[in-house]
Amino acid sequence: MFERPKAGQRALLVHLQFPGADFESDRQEFIELARSAGAEIVDVIGGSRREPDPGLFVGSGKAQEIADTVAATGAELVIFNHALSPSQERNLEKIAKARVLDRAGLILDIFATRARSHEGKLQVELAQLQHIATRLIRGWTHLERQRGGGIGLRGPGETQLEMDRRLIRDRIGTLKRHLEVVRGRRAQSRKARERNSVPTVSLVGYTNAGKSTLFNALTGDATFASNQLFATLDTTVRRLALKSGETVLLADTVGFIRDLPHDLIAAFRATLEEARDASLLLHVVDAADPERMSRIGQVEDVLREIGALEVPRLQVFNKIDLRDSEAPRIERDEHGAPARVYVSARTGVGLDLLREAILERLQPGLPESELVLPPSAARLRAQLFTQHAVRAEAIDEGGNFHLRVAMPYQRLRGLCAAAGVPPPPAPAHLIEEWELSP
Ligand code: GTP
Repeated sequence: MFERPKAGQRALLVHLQFPGADFESDRQEFIELARSAGAEIVDVIGGSRREPDPGLFVGSGKAQEIADTVAATGAELVIFNHALSPSQERNLEKIAKARVLDRAGLILDIFATRARSHEGKLQVELAQLQHIATRLIRGWTHLERQRGGGIGLRGPGETQLEMDRRLIRDRIGTLKRHLEVVRGRRAQSRKARERNSVPTVSLVGYTNAGKSTLFNALTGDATFASNQLFATLDTTVRRLALKSGETVLLADTVGFIRDLPHDLIAAFRATLEEARDASLLLHVVDAADPERMSRIGQVEDVLREIGALEVPRLQVFNKIDLRDSEAPRIERDEHGAPARVYVSARTGVGLDLLREAILERLQPGLPESELVLPPSAARLRAQLFTQHAVRAEAIDEGGNFHLRVAMPYQRLRGLCAAAGVPPPPAPAHLIEEWELSP
C-alpha cells in the first residue's frame, strides 16, 4: 500500500546545515543511507539556514534550485535529510514536480527492504502506514497512483481519499492485533530461555559495524550480509558454542543509527528490547571507521533510551584486517575483566579470544576457590567484595579471613599476585560443565 521509491530510482538529495550540526559527517551518512536504499544519486544540494521555513522547509530560492535540478537531471525523487511536515512535503512536491521523501520515509524504506522475520515485516508496515496516514490529505491527488482492481472496495459516494483512509485504518488495526500475538509468542520463548537459564548474548552496534558478519562467523551459518546499511532488521537468535558442552544464545539486532526518528524507535522498541533482557551485550564497533568514538556514544544513547545501559557490555573492535597496527587481543578493565576484544569477523582472527572473553564475562558455573587472607590483606578482601566474588566468609581467632570466592581462577591468581598473597591451588576443572536444557 505504501509507495516506496523503486530501487535504482534517480534521486536528488537535499541536506542543509543548521547551527550546531556536524555538516560533513551528517552529509556523508545521508549519502550512504540513500545508497543503501538503492537510490541512484544524481546530485546533492546543500545550503544553510538558521531555521526551517514553515511552508517549504527551505527558502523559495532554494526550492527553485531544487526544481531546476530535478528538471535538468531527470530526478524522480527528492530526498531530504530532515523531518518534513506533511504540508511541507506537499508544497515541495508541487514546486519540484517530483516525489519528496523525508528522512523518516527514507529510513522506513530501508527497513522495509531489510525486514526478515514476520514480526519485522509487520513492524515496518505498521510504521509506514502510520507515517503515511498523517500525509494522506486532500491535495495529494497530483501524485495519486492508479488503483488496479479495487472492485467491490469502492463504496457508493465514497471518495478515493475516504477509501484510502478507511483501508489504512483497518489495516493498522489488523497489524496491531497480529503484532500482539507475535510478541506474546516471543515473550514466551524468552521466558522459556530464562527458565532454562540459558544466557543470551545480544549483538548491538552502529549500522554497518559488522554485526551480521560476526554473527555468522561465530555461529557458522551464512545468512544475508551485505555491504549495505541495515542488513539486519530483526533479532535473529542462534546457538553459539563457547566450549564443548557450553552454549549460549547469540542474538543479532537491528543496526543503530544516529537520529533515528522517535516514532521509529517506538515501532522497533520490541526488537530493541531484546537487548535489554540480554545477559551480555557485544557492542560491535567498526575499528576502521574514523568516526568510531562518536558512534560508540550514539549507540550508548540508544541503549540508555531503551533502558539497556545497565546490561554488562563487551566491546568488539571489528575489521582489524583493515588496520595494520591492530593485533587481535583482549583489553581488560581495572578489575581484570575483559572489556574490549580486537577481531576481524571477515578473516576470523581474534574470534577465539572473543569466545574466551564472552565465557569469562558470562562466567557460567564459576569456579569457587577457598582462600585464606591474613589481616594485612584487607585491600584484596575489599576488592573481592566490590567484584561480588565473595560467596562466604569466616574469621578465625588469629584475625584471618577464610573466604569462598567465585571467580575465574586466572583472575583470582592475578589479584593474589598483585596483593602479595599466595594463590589458592588451581581447581581440577576451571569451568564447570554447564548444560543447555532441550
Ligand atoms: P546493519 O545490519 O546495517 O546494522 O550492519 P551490520 O553491522 O550487521 O554489518 P554487516 O555484517 O552487514 O557488515 C557491513 C559490511 O562490513 C559488509 O560489507 C561486511 O562484509 C563488512 N565487514 C564485516 N566485518 C568485516 C571485517 O572484519 N573486515 C572487513 N574488512 N569488512 C568487514
